Amino acid sequence: MVKVECIIRPEKIADVKDSLANVGVHGMTVTEVIGCGFQKGHTASLNWNTELNINLLPKIKVEMIVTDDEVEDVIAAIVKVAKTGEIGDGKIFTSPITDAVRIRTEERGDKAI
Ligand SMILES: Nc1ncnc2c1ncn2[C@@H]1O[C@H](COP(=O)(O)OP(=O)(O)OP(=O)(O)O)[C@@H](O)[C@H]1O
Ligand SMILES: [Mg+2]
Repeated sequence: MVKVECIIRPEKIADVKDSLANVGVHGMTVTEVIGCGFQKGHTASLNWNTELNINLLPKIKVEMIVTDDEVEDVIAAIVKVAKTGEIGDGKIFTSPITDAVRIRTEERGDKAI
């Protein structure tokens, strides 16, 4: 299993959710976040006082656990609708997941997602 985490433009969440449903992903966790990428980074300068100027933009984070064989389809489904080609389109991160438990039934692993 793999965790696919994507940070997208807030206005793209409905399209991303529909696109994910089309590739069979129904379980997800969605969070309103703020963040920065390459351009809008923090500028921090230290002098007598600590001056911190941080530009953080609102984004939406979508997290979903999928099977290994679904990962590429999931990435393609997100990119297809979240990409505008302008800076700030967001990122997709993947990481391995060792187990999952559906609490109601106590199913484990693939069967629990
Ligand atoms: N390396 C990172 N680690 C964690 N979150 C990140 C990282 N890079 C970007 N993000 C998250 O993704 C959001 C969107 O990033 P963004 O698309 O601006 O990335 P970028 O690298 O600047 O690419 P682009 O040049 O297309 O703008 C950020 O606001 C932040 O929430
Ligand atoms: Mg950027």
